[in-house]
Amino acid sequence: MKKAFLCSHYKSESWRLRIVKIIFRMTPVLLLLFSSGLYAASPRINYLLSCSGCHRVDGASSPPNVPTLRGELGRMLSVPQMREYIVRVPGASQAPLSDSDLADVMNWILEEFNADTLPEGFRPLTADEVTRVRGNILADPLQYRIEFWGPYTD
Ligand code: HEC
Repeated sequence: MKKAFLCSHYKSESWRLRIVKIIFRMTPVLLLLFSSGLYAASPRINYLLSCSGCHRVDGASSPPNVPTLRGELGRMLSVPQMREYIVRVPGASQAPLSDSDLADVMNWILEEFNADTLPEGFRPLTADEVTRVRGNILADPLQYRIEFWGPYTD
């Protein structure tokens, strides 16, 4: 009886050890996968995780409390200050996303919800642009919007 117990105990130990060894051997592969971005979330997923809670899944939000992300953003891009504005609003600038992921989300929003209103020759936002302006969070987004663009329309 004692022998059988020892035997099964020994077996389960080696089973666990084998799993640990397999994971350990796979570490370089896992690191490569994660660092290569193969497992990075898509802009759509990042939008759903970081923005849709307030701006809704389709970006239609509920103005005036949360402005819509459909239509008007495309037109805003013709004003340089407003190109910064869309990154400097607190919801965007403080999102738990890297600069390049935030640039991707913003470009995704622009192309997905604002394709009809984007200026001709639209240049997607770059990670460098986001890095440059993101830290300068707008203390009063509405006042800035009114000064450089105008009040919410709907
Ligand atoms: C907690 C709610 C919340 C979250 C989360 C949020 N936002 Fe917002 N967003 C707002 C509110 C409220 C405003 C209006 C400005 C203000 O008061 O901050 C706004 C304004 C904006 C505007 C300006 C729209 C306009 O017409 O003036 C953009 C662009 C924007 N958000 C993008 C984003 C993006 C991109 C994300 C995700 C990375 C995000 N927001 C996450 C609440 C949120």
